[in-house]
This record gives sequence, structure tokens and C-alpha cells, in this order.
Amino acid sequence: MVLASNNNRPLTAQLRVQDVQIAVREVGINPNHWYAVAWSDSLPPGTVKGVEIWREKIALYRGTDGTLGAIADACPHKNVELSRGKVMGSHLACRYHGWEFDATGQCQRIPYLPPEQKLPCAQARSYPIQERYGLLWIFPGDPALAEQMPLPEMPEYDDPGWFAVPVNGHFQAHFSICNENAMDVFHGFLHEDMQGWFDPQLTDLRDEGGAIAADYRVSYGGPIAKLLGFTDRASGVTTKTITVQYRYPHYHSSLEGVSSLYLMRLPVGPTESRSFAIFFLKLALPPWVTVPLRRWLLPLLQRQFFERFLVQDQEMMESEQRAYLANAQRRYVEINPAIIAVQRLMVRQYQQYQATLGEKASPH
Ligand code: FES
Ligand SMILES: [Fe+2]
Repeated sequence: MVLASNNNRPLTAQLRVQDVQIAVREVGINPNHWYAVAWSDSLPPGTVKGVEIWREKIALYRGTDGTLGAIADACPHKNVELSRGKVMGSHLACRYHGWEFDATGQCQRIPYLPPEQKLPCAQARSYPIQERYGLLWIFPGDPALAEQMPLPEMPEYDDPGWFAVPVNGHFQAHFSICNENAMDVFHGFLHEDMQGWFDPQLTDLRDEGGAIAADYRVSYGGPIAKLLGFTDRASGVTTKTITVQYRYPHYHSSLEGVSSLYLMRLPVGPTESRSFAIFFLKLALPPWVTVPLRRWLLPLLQRQFFERFLVQDQEMMESEQRAYLANAQRRYVEINPAIIAVQRLMVRQYQQYQATLGEKASPH
């Protein structure tokens, strides 16, 4: 399947809906964005771990002095994985012969080299890295673009009025399948009584440049509406608006100041994706009550609610992926315009990135 366009017309304009539906399962990522790769607390000082963004393996380490480094996970000496190495101060030492690399990927020391001998020219690729919202973010694309590309804005993060629940996801499915699941509010059938709301209706769909935003009106039954503080009555139905926004490559949904979910997508490979999500809940209780409760409330919410919820989604996404692998050309009928818009955006982003590669390759 040819995804790159040979002329200047955008590919998405050339593709019919059915073709976008097939093409989107094959697209790669646009690496010129920040991708969350790990929670900050999973990388204490003096440790290293391997992460992967779209088949690129990266060794992530935090020096004992706090230095953060992200370098290609292949030692320039013999390509051994640097993520098996050892942190030495601000350097990462390869496990095999102990060559030491700094956070720029430059070899700074070879323990068995006589001091008078010059170090060889051995440099691993390094990636821009930053830490924000309790997450470590890597920019796998052109480093010159890293500074101008924003992270998602998460105003709730520093506001003690919101209770934050981190949630992990790991799926054997292409990121398009996962992103469509996140954009899709019409699968309450799957979650049955865990979801809370019912009768969703798509009321608005906007293309905001790099983002697709959709408003859905949903209804809450009496007891849940009362619990969430929407109404004083435990009978009757309350309607609310859920806004979901897919700003490539991440996702945000909010329910009228009551809850807010940020879902950071990590495409690991063509049939594997991860997600790092933070669910914020507005609590009617003051922080001096909620902060001590955090210890037991957090794992309870994670295990009893989010993980159970996510397992249901995971089964469906992985089933969709298996069906695709069995027959990539099989048609399917998508009727939610928000999903179709998200599919077009993913294809467009990939195509835009491919076009920048073409520009670089062509001699001027
Ligand atoms: S393979 Fe890494 S130091 Fe030799
Ligand atoms: Fe779901």
C-alpha cells in the first residue's frame, strides 16, 4: 500500500473513507512530537531502563547527580544494549567492557584504555528528554524541532483540588486502534454498569488544526448524578457534556469540571502500544482530608475500577488487531464521524512527516 503521495496534494484528500480505514492501520508515527515513555518514579537516581518508541530502542537513565539521559540502546562498541548497563555518576556505563557515555551519547571513558591514549570516536544518538507531570518525555524526531513542540497542557496537575489517578495501559494493537477506542464514547455496551452515563449523542465535531474535538451529550441516572454532585435528587436524569479531544499524538477528555482524563499514547511498534494516563477527579472534600486518604484510595481506584475497565477495552482492541492481521483488506463499517476524523488526522500526520523526509532527501 502506498501511503506517501507523489505530488503535492494531501494524501488524505485523495483517499476515500474506506481507504483511510485500511491505510490508518499501517501508518507509522510522526516522531516530531513529545512522547511519554515512563513514569518519573520508575526511574530513581542511579538507575537505567529500556524503552521503545516505534521500534526505536532507547536507554533511559538518571545519574546519581540527577542528570537525565536518553540515548540509543546500542553501545557504539559492540551494539550491546546500554539499558543493561550501570549508572556511574552522570554517565551510563555499558555492562560489557564498561565504556562510559554521557547524556549526549559521547564516550567519555574506557576503563582499560591507557591514560595517554586518545578515546575513539564513539557516539550513541541522544534524544531530547524532559520531565513533567510525573512523566519522562522523549522527542524521537528532529531535535531541532523539540523546543517548539509543546507538551499537553494539564492545569489540573498542580491544583490540589483535583485528585490524580495514574493509569497504565499496554496493548498488543496498533496505536490507531487504541486511539479510536479512546475517542469512542459509543461502547458503553462493553462497560455495562461500570460506565455511569448512558444515551450518548454526538453534538459537535471540530477540526482544530492539529486536533479533533468532539462534544457528546450524555445522561446520568439519579443516584450517580447525586454522587457526582450534579443534582440533589436521587431520582430523575441529568445531562452533561463530555468533550473529547485528540491532539496528535495524545488525548484529553473532560466532563464539565468534574473529571478530566489525559491519555498519553506511546506507539511501541506496529502491533504494540502503551498508554500513560492521568485521571483527575474533582473532589468535594478539602485536601487535608484527601491527602491522607490518597494512600489507600489510589490503589483501590486503580485496581477496582480503572484496571477492570481497561481490561474490557484491551480485549476488544486486541481482537480488532487480530482480525486485521488475519485479513488486512476486510472492510468495516465505521459510522462515528469523530472516529473517521481521528483516522484522517493520524494518516495526515504520518504523511506530513514523510513529506519532510522527502524534502530533506531531494537535492535543491
Ligand atoms: S560492548 Fe559496550 S563497552 Fe563493549
Ligand atoms: Fe472503553
